[in-house]
This record gives sequence, structure tokens and C-alpha cells, in this order.
Amino acid sequence: MPAPFPPLPQAVYAARRDEVRRRMRELAGPSTLVVHSTPVATRNHDVEHPYRADADLYWLTGFTEPECALVLSTEGNEPFTLFVRPRDKDKELWNGRRHGLEGARVISGAHQSFGVALIDAELPKLIQQPTLFYRLGGTDPHFDARIARTLTQLRMRGRTGITAPRRLEDPGVLLHELRLLKDSHELSALRRAIELTRAGHLTAMEVGRGGTHEHELEAALLASYRSGGAVCGYSPIVAAGRNATILHYNENDAPVRDGELVLIDSGAEVALYTADVTRTFPASGTFTPAQAKLYDLVLRAADLAIEHTAPGVTIDGLHDEIVHTLTEGMIELGLLEGTPEARIADSSYRRFYMHRSSHWLGLDVHDAGAYRNEANEPRALVPGMVFTIEPGLYIAEDDVTAPPELRGTGVRIEDDILVTESGHENLTASIPRTRADVEQACAR
Ligand code: GLY
Ligand code: MN
Ligand code: MN
Repeated sequence: MPAPFPPLPQAVYAARRDEVRRRMRELAGPSTLVVHSTPVATRNHDVEHPYRADADLYWLTGFTEPECALVLSTEGNEPFTLFVRPRDKDKELWNGRRHGLEGARVISGAHQSFGVALIDAELPKLIQQPTLFYRLGGTDPHFDARIARTLTQLRMRGRTGITAPRRLEDPGVLLHELRLLKDSHELSALRRAIELTRAGHLTAMEVGRGGTHEHELEAALLASYRSGGAVCGYSPIVAAGRNATILHYNENDAPVRDGELVLIDSGAEVALYTADVTRTFPASGTFTPAQAKLYDLVLRAADLAIEHTAPGVTIDGLHDEIVHTLTEGMIELGLLEGTPEARIADSSYRRFYMHRSSHWLGLDVHDAGAYRNEANEPRALVPGMVFTIEPGLYIAEDDVTAPPELRGTGVRIEDDILVTESGHENLTASIPRTRADVEQACAR
């Protein structure tokens, strides 16, 4: 097993904060940024969901504990404040270690740290700049209310010479634009995540035969991820036969039968960077002729889009190409009639291809970043962006207009693509994609 993935050097986070502060100043002059952690979510009664740090906060600090908040100011020599959970012998005995105030400063490079209980007392002192960058309506309405209270308090004290923020700006324009471009550290984490994802998908192809169950395949994925020190970046979709036509299926408990296709959409997450990969394979080890036609069509659409990926191209443009290729093929397969242009114009292709073809990928599986530029046009790809290309076809089992041999069949092929100076790199190319490679991976 490879060594655990090393933490990113603190200098990387410091450089990100410097760049964010530079952009804050450029955009808004003297200003403050507040980012807080995702709240812990209850699973049931006194059991919590596994905690996952907020991506913005992590990207700025490398700090992964719950119940914290960051304040970053454009002004002063010590602009970085972190609120964290204090050390607590009793709580740590029950629920695990905490870095505490001092540890948090060491890990994150914060200039000062306070216990979370002091947020309401300290925040008003820290955000007295004309502009506050804070994302309203994020993950925590309680924190939104806290910000609103703080602003009201400051406004009421305006007579005393206090500056209450007059403008509230979405920090997405700073943080998410920067998060869109992956640096070498981020790409290393992503490559490690993809290695483990590859191992998981390969094992699932090997064990996923008729007579097994979807959950056994899910277990194979998890074994690969966990033994490599990773977790799932999102709930895996392990869908056999007709279940593959449910886009976000994740019951993962049905039997797998010979003759069915199995669609697995799953990615490992390393250092909070997740892969997002879908492969579709035959439980019997061999595609039937009808399945082969469907599969090759989806693969052709994916390959064309990947081939055309380069700086300057847009995700919308790639999606349009995919829709055209798929619609043309749907007509050849007898799923639709007429011309591709007519079926695209009346949207009837959406009966079999109803989702978009791409999204940004990184710390979040549907990663942060605008899809349109300021003129509201699809934005051009630039080197350093990572996104998915994920065409599919889904034929409902009760679609009596579809050829009977295709009903209840879903195929998706999803790859993770890095935009490079010279074009692109398919980061997930080594996870079997062609029919021949998939059948070989299924061979027992
Ligand atoms: N796994 C979620 C997606 O493919 O977008
Ligand atoms: Mn995806
Ligand atoms: Mn996916």
C-alpha cells in the first residue's frame, strides 16, 4: 500500500490567502471575508453523519475540524483569525482529539485564534470594513442569522464612529474562481484518488457477476478506497439492470443477474479531492449485441468530446456535440425517428439523455466555479480546470416505444478531464473504457 497522502505544505494555503486578499482589495478595497465550517449533521437520535469539512474553509486553511470560522481581512499585519473548538479533556475522551486554539494556529498559520464561543463577541470587532465577503444561504442558516445580527449591531453603533459593512459580497467570485484552477498539489491528490478509484472499479468488474448483489460490489469499492486511506467522495451508485435507468440510484441492494449491465458511478476522495468515475459492464462478462450498440454509442460521444477538449472550448459546446452524437445514434438504434436536428429541436432526445454532460471537479464532486462569464456566455476552458465528461443513455423498462431488447438498460461512461496547454489529459483513461478492455477486466 502506498504511504498516506502527505498534507499540503502550509505555504500553499498561505499563498492562496494572500491571493484572495489581493483580489478582495482589488475588487472592493478594505474588506473582510468570513467563511465558516459546515455544521455537523445528525444522522439519527444521537448519531452524527461522518464530518466533512467545508471546501472553501479547507482550501484556505487545511483545517478540517467542525465548528470553526475564518476571518480574513485585507488590512493589518495579522489579518487571519480562526475560531475553533477549544481543547476539552472530557469531550476529547468521548469524541476524539481537537487541535485547540494553539494547535489550530500551528496547523493553519492563523495569526490569532479564539474559541468558537467567542464568535459573537469578537466578530463585530473583526469585520469593521466597508465590504464583507460572506456567502449568504450557504450550508448554515444559523450562521447567516449570526452575520445579520452582527451587522445590525454594528449599524446601531454607527454614531460612535464604527464602520458597519455597507456591502455584502459573495466570496464565490474570489474563492471559486481560484478553486477552478488546480495546482500541482491538488492534481496529485486527485491522481491518488483516481488510482484508488481504478482499483475499486476493477475489483467490482471482477466480482460483479450474476448471483452477486449490488452491495457486494459496493463493498469492493469501499475496500479499495479505505485500504488506500481514502473515503467515498459521494454515495456510490451501484445499479444493475433496470436500476441503471434511475440517475441517482443508491439503494445498492438488488441482485445482479447474468445478461444485465451494471452501472457503477463512484469515486474515492483523497485529501478531500474526489474522483468521479462511471463505468458500465456486463454481469456475464460479455456485452450482448444490443448492449454493445448502446455502449459503443455512449463511448463514441464521450471520445469525441474528450478529443475536442482544449483551452478556448466551452462545456456547453461539448454538451451540444454529445447531444448530437447521441441523438444521431438514437435514430440509428430505432429509439427515435426523423433527423437529429428535429429531435434536438423538440427535445425528444431527452427521453433517453436527460442530464448535462459535465461539471467541475475538485474538493466537491460538483465543484465550485461559475459556468458562465460576466456576459452570461458559456465560459472558455483554460489550462488547470478539471471537469467530467459523462454521457449516458437510459432506456426506461416501461418505454414501450423502445426496441424490447434495450428496455430497462442504462449506460454511462464518465471520465475526469484536465485541461492542459496543449489540449487535455483524461485522468481516468486507465480505468477500462473500451468494450474490449471492459470485457477483459470482467474476465474471471
Ligand atoms: N456522481 C455524480 C455525478 O456524476 O455527477
Ligand atoms: Mn459527475
Ligand atoms: Mn459520477
